Amino acid sequence: MIVNLEDYRRQAQRALPVFAFDYVDGGADDQRTLADNRAAFDRWQFVATMLRDVSVRRLDVQLGDTALAAPCLIAPTGYNGMLRYRADQMLAQAAERAGITYIQSTVSTASLEDIPAGRTGARWFQLYVLKDRSVTVDLLRRARAAGCTNLVVSVDAVHFGNRERDQRHYRKPMKLSLASYLNVARHPGWVLRTLVPGGMPGFGNLRPYLPPQYRRGVGGATYFAQQMDDTLNWQTLAWIRSLWQGGLYVKGILTIDDAEAALALGADGLILSNHGGRQLDGSVSPLTVLPEIRRACGPAARILIDGGIRRGTDVVKALALGANAVLVGRPILYAVAVAGEAGVVRALTLLTQEIDRTLAQLGCRSVAELGPHLLRRREI
Ligand SMILES: Cc1cc2nc3c(=O)[nH]c(=O)nc-3n(C[C@H](O)[C@H](O)[C@H](O)COP(=O)(O)O)c2cc1C
Repeated sequence: MIVNLEDYRRQAQRALPVFAFDYVDGGADDQRTLADNRAAFDRWQFVATMLRDVSVRRLDVQLGDTALAAPCLIAPTGYNGMLRYRADQMLAQAAERAGITYIQSTVSTASLEDIPAGRTGARWFQLYVLKDRSVTVDLLRRARAAGCTNLVVSVDAVHFGNRERDQRHYRKPMKLSLASYLNVARHPGWVLRTLVPGGMPGFGNLRPYLPPQYRRGVGGATYFAQQMDDTLNWQTLAWIRSLWQGGLYVKGILTIDDAEAALALGADGLILSNHGGRQLDGSVSPLTVLPEIRRACGPAARILIDGGIRRGTDVVKALALGANAVLVGRPILYAVAVAGEAGVVRALTLLTQEIDRTLAQLGCRSVAELGPHLLRRREI
């Protein structure tokens, strides 16, 4: 039975072969940051205000050209086709139905052209910068042609995190171990939902750039790992800014200096993130640095945050500490793995109901009324 987002995680653990579940669920090294992203929310407690008329409540927010029915976006995640055939299309469709936004990853299984333009108009694409700059130029051209109006440049994954839970399932890179194959055989439902309709999922956006030897199955992952550009720097970001006329968000920011530099360079917003604990283990949690970055950048800066959002109360805490909206990663992936598009719609409905209930219980009529006065640091 599903009554909250954690239920989707539990069911996904049963529905997915262990290599696929661990790919989504895992973090880097000892997973300290993964755990801390959750713990950061528990360091704050609500101080509710009483005797206010909260009979009418508004959850909507506006981010530039993007109207959101609730202050949530679906985080960009790569290789969703491993969870279910056409998972990316389902996420996009479910976001549309919920009135929020799906951010498509550079390494999505579906290509930019595979996702139909939504009715709401504002579409978001997440860019990884590869060594071959002509790929970036072409991806931006395709994103524009596909109707994307907002670009998220992820800057925290130029060097991949050490994800040991992944490594344990492979005998060599991209070759599953015998134990993993046997485990796949124990998940015929996943095989039917994922491999039978579409074969081994690939990397739709990268397909035009792949050398022939990398075109089959997961070969794109090998190419991608070799192509990540670790010379990425502020000049590169300025270059991307000059190429992209739409909204531009920098994802992976965690310091005041970087936040101010990104905004000074012309970014329209920041996404405070440690990549869901999948990169630098021991990294600070975005929620921890959110108040100081909001203070430094001022009330007008557009600041989004992700990492560990599992409850409506988490969303409300993030907004009260200064975020304009949040990105949700893993719970959405568990939901699509378990129940496809309907699962994602249900997950988003649950999250939205929880946000709404929290507002009412706090004595707030809209997300605009949220602020740090509604929170207190936990003392014990
Ligand atoms: C399976 C998986 C794949 C991801 N792929 C990408 C990606 O392609 N691009 C990106 O910017 N972030 C990627 N991320 C990070 C998410 O965008 C987001 O920062 C993170 O999942 C938020 O934390 P949460 O999962 O705790 O909500 C990925 C995360 C997961 C779990």
